[in-house]
Amino acid sequence: MTEIEETSKAAETGFPTVRMRRLRRTPALRRMVRETKLSVDDFIYPLFVVHGQDIRQEISSMPGVYHLSLDQLPREVNEISALDIPAVILFGIPAHKDPIGLENFAEHGIIQEAVRTIKRANPDLTVITDVCMCEYTDHGHCGVVRDHQVLNDETLTIYGRVAVSHAEAGADMVAPSGMMDGQVGAVRHALDGAGFAQLPILAYAAKYASNFYGPFRDAAQSPPQFGDRRSYQMDPANARMALREIALDIQEGADIVMVKPALPYLDIIRQVRDRFPLPLAAYNVSGEYAMIKAAARNGWLNEQGTALEMLTGIKRAGADLILTYFAKDAARWLSEQHG
Ligand code: PBG
Repeated sequence: MTEIEETSKAAETGFPTVRMRRLRRTPALRRMVRETKLSVDDFIYPLFVVHGQDIRQEISSMPGVYHLSLDQLPREVNEISALDIPAVILFGIPAHKDPIGLENFAEHGIIQEAVRTIKRANPDLTVITDVCMCEYTDHGHCGVVRDHQVLNDETLTIYGRVAVSHAEAGADMVAPSGMMDGQVGAVRHALDGAGFAQLPILAYAAKYASNFYGPFRDAAQSPPQFGDRRSYQMDPANARMALREIALDIQEGADIVMVKPALPYLDIIRQVRDRFPLPLAAYNVSGEYAMIKAAARNGWLNEQGTALEMLTGIKRAGADLILTYFAKDAARWLSEQHG
């Protein structure tokens, strides 16, 4: 009999020989048998950057998250680094929106300037940029639009330009998030052609058309002005299709793959973890954050407890990295717990 068979045989013996509570008796025992350990190393903190001066404006649907102007970034990233959070992901709100989102790949666009400012303030903080179009376009879609259709291949050229402009500004990693087919390959090709073969791609590989993005769209001023995103983002009902999306992004050269949102898609996270060896990120999105914040403000939920439980669940499901608006708070809570 193998050890595992013996163990399960012992389990079959059952109560009173087996008492599960023995290992739950003291904090030390619980600590010793804890299977999942959340760590600050797992976190990526999203930042929203805006034009202007002295702007530090709280986003109403995301309490504790701010629109920051460039001058506010050094202070913010010093705080993030002091908490030992390894990376940020940047979202920018442009001065003007137009059909193709010109500021998105402008040398002095908001994101390009934010990357430079952050790298100047703190070269060691990893800066990831989101490569998409919805914040920059007047129609609010993630690609080039013609006759109310979001065009795929025409969009890829723009994503390539955006990624290269972020790389030129000093980004450490780019994250294509528009869910166009071939986007990872197009971004890889553009980066390689511009001399950035070393720059990794974090692929929003399985991104669902989710209601949980609501607060983010307020924050990024990026809701679609007609229709919705269901012709490019995934149907929440599909799991096998997510595995195909992930496989394709890996083929195209993704270095890290992502599932988004996290909480309603823990089964997807688990399946991806079991099938693919790449590092896996999960995006604990704005709506998941806002739900806990709102309930906590009403005294209906304990914020720290529920947030850490949620993040632990995402990690237990198989995520290696978690993009979360709770990153700073969680980093503080974890360091307090460890004394
Ligand atoms: C841009 C983008 C979105 C999010 C991240 N990148 C919004 C969307 O697809 O509408 C959502 C993040 C969040 O809700 O926290 N494509």
